[in-house]
Amino acid sequence: MKPTICILLFLLIYNYSPAQQFIANYDEAKIPAYTLPDPLMLNDGSKVTSLKDWEKRRMEIYRLFGKEVFGAIPEWKGSVKSTVVSSKPNALQGLAKRKEVVLEFVHGNQKCALTILIYLPPNSKNAPVFLGYNFDGNQTTTTEPDVLIPDSWVNNNKELGISDHHANANGRGSAASRWPVKEIISRGFGVATVYYGDVDPDFDDGFKNGIHPLLDTKRDSTSWGSIAAWSWGLSRIMDYFEKDNELNSRKVIVIGHSRLGKTSLWAGASDKRFAMVVANNSGCGGAALSKRIYGETVGSMNKAFPHWFCDNFKKYSTKEELLPVDQHELLSLIAPRPVYVASAFEDKWADPKGEFLACVFASPVYELLGAKKFGATEMPPLNRPVIGTISYHIRPGKHDITLYDWNCYMDFASDYFKLKNR
Ligand code: GCU
Repeated sequence: MKPTICILLFLLIYNYSPAQQFIANYDEAKIPAYTLPDPLMLNDGSKVTSLKDWEKRRMEIYRLFGKEVFGAIPEWKGSVKSTVVSSKPNALQGLAKRKEVVLEFVHGNQKCALTILIYLPPNSKNAPVFLGYNFDGNQTTTTEPDVLIPDSWVNNNKELGISDHHANANGRGSAASRWPVKEIISRGFGVATVYYGDVDPDFDDGFKNGIHPLLDTKRDSTSWGSIAAWSWGLSRIMDYFEKDNELNSRKVIVIGHSRLGKTSLWAGASDKRFAMVVANNSGCGGAALSKRIYGETVGSMNKAFPHWFCDNFKKYSTKEELLPVDQHELLSLIAPRPVYVASAFEDKWADPKGEFLACVFASPVYELLGAKKFGATEMPPLNRPVIGTISYHIRPGKHDITLYDWNCYMDFASDYFKLKNR
């Protein structure tokens, strides 16, 4: 082959190779000009000016996210059984009540079960409760030696010392820094966590395992992915909370880090029973604006995690400009309930500025519904939270959820729920 043809062929293949398409941009100057959809403009071009208009517009946006991003959730026709499998009145040296509750989902001859680990302060009936998934099993969130280990699939996680597809005792307490249970309880909150793999194992298996097969009849390009499944699980846990008179289901704060922050946002948008939503370092598909093309993009995410979203979302890989929604609208679906978005300075992959801007552009919806305007138009300095019905902070350090993050969430939630712990 002639050298010129070789060079041309190389350029052609290189330009269209996935690697070339998904090289992350970290340069603000290279962000393409983009136009965000207006959350206050109805499909027919008219402006939203009243609560009634907003309810209509909200459904338009919600349906678009369902159809084009997270996927639609089929109707649940099965049964759910809850069983308290352990109960310890004086856990954490007497600081908290602890219990573990199994929810078993049954449809036809199929089953799926999750285990909720719950810590509650003594005055639990009034205490707001943080509810969030963990990445590697409930036993990793606490150093207490008798917390149950999941039977379901657990990711290989060398960092946490979990080395097979089933969690083992090696990982016990290894994610405790992400779950400061003593601090949470001492400030008057409860905390409940569930291993996300109980609801859907986090790999692409064609939706054969986890909860999907219990609801799916036939799948198409709008069918739900894993994030929708995890958020569905959070709503079923809320169903259980409503029946458990030891805790207050009207004060549940749904919280998540990273992919689980994407999940908490979709859960909060889908289920108005969640009183407040926290999205920690949620990035692409979470709080970060997709159309900025900074750090992780819709294309790179769909390629690495094809099971997270519905197949329709793949249409927008490298074509983010065609997306009919963007993530400020995901935040707006939570209005007027509080939403707290947080970034980490070194977490460029999650696009901290994109997460911040989503707060700025969600503000008009919150304002329409009576909240004060989001308190910043420029990124705030590190460790200087912008507090309001939409709150935001950026802290130094890497992609993680730290005690600093939790303290900010608890400070805000204390004021919001008028706790006397500040
Ligand atoms: C990857 C992924 C992110 C995700 C993160 C996480 O980095 O690209 O989208 O948020 O994992 O969940 O830890």
